[in-house]
Amino acid sequence: MIALRVSLICLATFCGVQLARAAALQIEITPRVSGQEIQPASLRYQTSAGETFSITRVSYLVSNFALQRTDGSWLEISNAVAWLDLAANRNSIWLENIPPDEFCAVRFLVGLNTNLNHADIATFPASHPLNPNLNGLHWSWQGGFIFLALEGLWRNAGGELDGWAYHLARDTNATRITLAAPIIVTNETKLDLDFDLEALLNAPRALSFGKDGSSTHSRDGDPVSAALVANLAGAFRIHKITALTDTEITVAHPKPLYLPAKFTPYPFQMSATFPVPDLPLDNPLTVERVQLGKELFFDQRVSINNAQSCADCHLPAKAFTDGRKTARGAEGGFGPRNSMPLFNLAWKLEFFWDGRAQSLREQVLQPIQNPIEMHQSLTNLCDKLRATNKMNYAGLFTAAFGSPEITAEKISLALENYLLTLTSFNAKFDHVLRGEEKFTADEQRGFELFSTEYDPRRGQFGADCFHCHGGPLFQSQSFANNGLDSEFLDAGRAKVTGKISDQGKFAVPSLRNVALTAPYMHDGRFLTLAEVVEHYATGVVRSATLDPNLAKHPDGGVPLSAADKQALVAFLDTLTDQDFKQITVPAYLSK
Ligand code: HEC
Ligand code: HEC
Repeated sequence: MIALRVSLICLATFCGVQLARAAALQIEITPRVSGQEIQPASLRYQTSAGETFSITRVSYLVSNFALQRTDGSWLEISNAVAWLDLAANRNSIWLENIPPDEFCAVRFLVGLNTNLNHADIATFPASHPLNPNLNGLHWSWQGGFIFLALEGLWRNAGGELDGWAYHLARDTNATRITLAAPIIVTNETKLDLDFDLEALLNAPRALSFGKDGSSTHSRDGDPVSAALVANLAGAFRIHKITALTDTEITVAHPKPLYLPAKFTPYPFQMSATFPVPDLPLDNPLTVERVQLGKELFFDQRVSINNAQSCADCHLPAKAFTDGRKTARGAEGGFGPRNSMPLFNLAWKLEFFWDGRAQSLREQVLQPIQNPIEMHQSLTNLCDKLRATNKMNYAGLFTAAFGSPEITAEKISLALENYLLTLTSFNAKFDHVLRGEEKFTADEQRGFELFSTEYDPRRGQFGADCFHCHGGPLFQSQSFANNGLDSEFLDAGRAKVTGKISDQGKFAVPSLRNVALTAPYMHDGRFLTLAEVVEHYATGVVRSATLDPNLAKHPDGGVPLSAADKQALVAFLDTLTDQDFKQITVPAYLSK
């Protein structure tokens, strides 16, 4: 459970001259059905129309908290915002520095006020609940945040598994919740609330996926979003109020590791439209460390037989992929997966197709030791680098870390530093956003298809791509099954979590530079972008873990004409960053 503590500024204006010791209130909200905590991805729930459904996503924003004093006046806690998410186990917010008092009600907004909803997303720090890279709720072209995202699967009248996705957005739909509660805030107090999803889908307006539609994007006059808004107020209830003792949370600020007395800070470059990334505080970017990381990345000695560098599988000219279906190791054997592109990694939270590495420094040591990749022990690698006289590694390590010792940890920190600097944000798409270039008619049509939902009931016939590949990074921090198979040769994300509900899910790749990264998918099964688009139009295979955003489409996929398919490919081609391809490489790679 991640608790967010928010300080109440201007305390003095609230308590006047009376200097009472400030207290804190923790509000924990648990999504439930019939009083029970939700079993994610379990097909165990029923709509009032008798449809069986599961819940795979409950993600929402709450803000504008206030407590009502017994004299009727309100204490506004206006700077408190939380992103709450079932899968991420985020369910609580701390309201801090509250003057101890007796209150009789609490109120908050599900959603955001207009100012926050339209704030410049690039101003939110990496850990801020409104940073889109953290919450995955901002689809830049839809106007503000999706403040409530509910998704799951359901069994339709034909007995088939279909997807449902209810997404609430827009200022006018933000809903105020007021709950009467005798809250005595002394020291630390905890307020437990229930978020009853059964009530949300049923009362006062009952929703049926079959009759009312299995998706909403909150467009004007959409009856599903109107029903959700009407039901929201009754869906929250007080569960319990408790006094807490001694729950102080201390946040450890990691210290920079092996920082030499003299170093040159490396200027991290990104687009002004990107959210703020969470760069590792204990491995600050320095010119010296980046240089060492780059040398290591391009050095073939890193492999057992001095035949392969990282760059052999991650060629800069191909956005750091290798053009192969699956990767070929230093000794000629082939691995099971397609090499991943390397850019904008600073925004990723988990690495590899299945997300098995939690950080880059953990990730980079895996290909070195992997027997079907570089196949070299870390001890051997350190010995080899010490012995080499072609390169002055001792000097490079001293400049980067303050001493000449070569260790696996320092190798991993230097590679992490280098990989973090690989940012890509200068494609035709970015020029068009800045008004410096124009899309062709085909590209424009492709962009519309890409960023519009498929919702025939509301007259929307887009291709729904933005759900997963949305935002300025064209990726999301999530794992999804995009309908490649019904049986999974590679279990994907389930290999890491051990959950059946994660079978066949893979990291959603960024589509920036995608024209350079063929072949496609975790196993390189598609050779061209046209084949990929064909997959989403006619090849989507149903299975128990198929993403709801695809499962809600007709069988096979989202209907697209030949011209539309071509337009989508034309749009994807505008995501290529010509500058990013131009990284100078050692001679052995340009053969
Ligand atoms: C034999 C080819 C090969 C070599 C050599 C190789 N990689 Fe990779 N790389 C891959 C493949 C394949 C994947 C995906 C593997 C998976 O998901 O299991 C990958 C994934 C990655 C990722 C994860 C990217 C993401 O978005 O999650 C990073 C980072 C990476 N490699 C860095 C490196 C570094 C640094 C080196 C050198 C130390 C290296 N690779 C050497 C083939 C290779
Ligand atoms: C439900 C989420 C989801 C939706 C919606 C979605 N994708 Fe994907 N996409 C993925 C995932 C997950 C992968 C990687 C799957 C794998 O490798 O097994 C992927 C892979 C891709 C790739 C290959 C990238 C690479 O580097 O291999 C392309 C291109 C792509 N999608 C384009 C699209 C387009 C175009 C649309 C809209 C028609 C779309 N996607 C809709 C989740 C989604």
